[in-house]
Amino acid sequence: MARHDLVTAVEHALRAPSVHNTQPWRWRIADDSVQLHADWNRHLVATDPDRRDLVVSCGIALHHLLVALAARVLEADVDRLPDPDDGGHLATVTVRPGSGRVADATLFPAIERRRTDRRRMSHRPVSAETVGVLAGHAQRAGAVLVPTSDEAVRGRLTAALVEASHRQEPSAGYTVELEVWTRRYAGARDGVPLGSIAPAPVGAANASPLRRFPHGRLPQPAQTPGHGAADDAAELLVVATPADDQAERLRAGEAVSAVLLAATRLGLATTLLSQGVEVDAVRHAIRWDVLHVPEQPQLVLRVGWPASGAAELPPTPRRHLRSVLLST
Ligand SMILES: Cc1cc2nc3c(=O)[nH]c(=O)nc-3n(C[C@H](O)[C@H](O)[C@H](O)COP(=O)(O)O)c2cc1C
Repeated sequence: MARHDLVTAVEHALRAPSVHNTQPWRWRIADDSVQLHADWNRHLVATDPDRRDLVVSCGIALHHLLVALAARVLEADVDRLPDPDDGGHLATVTVRPGSGRVADATLFPAIERRRTDRRRMSHRPVSAETVGVLAGHAQRAGAVLVPTSDEAVRGRLTAALVEASHRQEPSAGYTVELEVWTRRYAGARDGVPLGSIAPAPVGAANASPLRRFPHGRLPQPAQTPGHGAADDAAELLVVATPADDQAERLRAGEAVSAVLLAATRLGLATTLLSQGVEVDAVRHAIRWDVLHVPEQPQLVLRVGWPASGAAELPPTPRRHLRSVLLST
């Protein structure tokens, strides 16, 4: 098998979303394997004290890699957390020619098309059937997708996310991290560009579950005639896992990737929302008081049809492969 195949697959994996676009990963490419390592230097200490977002981000990149390998008809064996003495070594993927696939190759085109969309979405509801399809993708990747279609549950989840932001925003460290990662120097290949952040829609009837970023420059789509309020019909879905150790967070990331790519393939817009799991007390409240589930919440996804007339979103930057490669 050509090294070129592995290099290309890793390049696709770099398109994975990550918290504040920190891209907290390192890769080692050998003759027939790819290693994924966490980059703890890119840990957001104040925002993500448990390092959950960091490991989930890496899990998303791992799944992107598996999809890219499957699209090249390469067989992959995944050894998660292979080194008990090195918790940062998250996975080794051994690759050989073949047709057995651990990921769904049909998701591959969605890797380049997917964007985090923070704008108002459409008033067209996402059907229970579509949510079921997405839940199937999460399940095959080892997690559950908990819908919050019931209005009361959704209201309680939104309130929990707002509570998380009230707890985080007074923290100087949290604010500094938000500023640092949204005001990158010119030409930076990481961070959240201002052109990807929309100002809050005017006239919303309910509180917004979205993280409040500063200085958004992305225009909101025009209001649909007949709909006065700016609220939309986007669903809030919670990715959860049976336990809450490093391996489960990695699995959660893989499931998030599968759901995001499947949603993108269907033409849905998606937003990742992590504030509710960054504050421990809020994460517990989401589990026990909002969802009443035995599983551990790992991330909230907002999924909806794009508002009519919404412009295509520009891609966000990524670091070069050479900047994230470890020597062999
Ligand atoms: C674990 C994780 C947590 C995230 N949390 C949020 C969030 O709370 N709010 C938000 O708007 N975006 C969030 N994002 C999205 C990132 O900001 C986004 O992926 C990144 O800026 C790259 O942009 P892209 O997804 O359009 O490629 C999160 C992403 C990940 C992987």
